[in-house]
Amino acid sequence: MNSWVVATYDSAFGYVSAHGAPLVDLLDPQPGEKIIDLGCGTGALSAEIAARGAEPLGIDGSPALIGQARMLNAGLSFTVGDAGDFTVTEPFDAVASNAALHWMTRDPDAVITRVHAALRPGGRFVAEMGGAGNCAELIAAMQTAWREFGLAEPELPWYFPSPAEYATRLEDGGFTVRLLEYVERPTRMTEGPNGAADWVRVFASGPLNAVPPQAVESLLARINDLAAPALRRESGWMADYVRLRFAAVRKPDSSALTFDMRRPESAHT
Ligand code: BEZ
Repeated sequence: MNSWVVATYDSAFGYVSAHGAPLVDLLDPQPGEKIIDLGCGTGALSAEIAARGAEPLGIDGSPALIGQARMLNAGLSFTVGDAGDFTVTEPFDAVASNAALHWMTRDPDAVITRVHAALRPGGRFVAEMGGAGNCAELIAAMQTAWREFGLAEPELPWYFPSPAEYATRLEDGGFTVRLLEYVERPTRMTEGPNGAADWVRVFASGPLNAVPPQAVESLLARINDLAAPALRRESGWMADYVRLRFAAVRKPDSSALTFDMRRPESAHT
């Protein structure tokens, strides 16, 4: 992620963080609980968790974002880490994640495995991410523009699973799914005056970096033309977000289950 993106991640597209508010209610952090904020970005969700009296540890793969998080949230703990490969030295009560899991494309099951390993049995995994169909109009405009400009299909850096797919991954990964919501949430691009073009600049910088520099401005202008009928309203541009929101709990260890099955009476005494 380049530094311009870091600088504008919250200010120009603050809705990414703002929409974490209901998530914190679903997480329901309790005073003293140890909670990982996975893919913490600049630390907005960590700050909300801390405000409820819990102890967050923000983890993010981007050293630049962790630097910003530390600057913006003095006194809170943040560390650079790979969501598919992190370990912790003590069990956590919960793992929360807002608008981050869809960036973890390499191996979604490895992320779930690491979350499971970080939690105590009964610990909560509560997250919100883009679901299947997220940004469909924005992505269609990108793909059409790329094709019209004779460019190879853009490699999209996101993973937007269906609810069924992600629930299966969670269950296979040792979780019981308590809640799973799949909702359309059209979201105002409040500070992206140049609409779809600004969104692509901020969130699709990878594919955009592969475009010959002399073609970038006209490509972005074309994306705006293509996306405008679906996403531009009189009041401004909207992003066509579709959210997947879930709350899952780590199942008891299988060794504990074996113990209970051998001595059924012990489970009730
Ligand atoms: C999202 O929050 O849904 C999202 C943000 C940026 C890029 C892709 C998806």
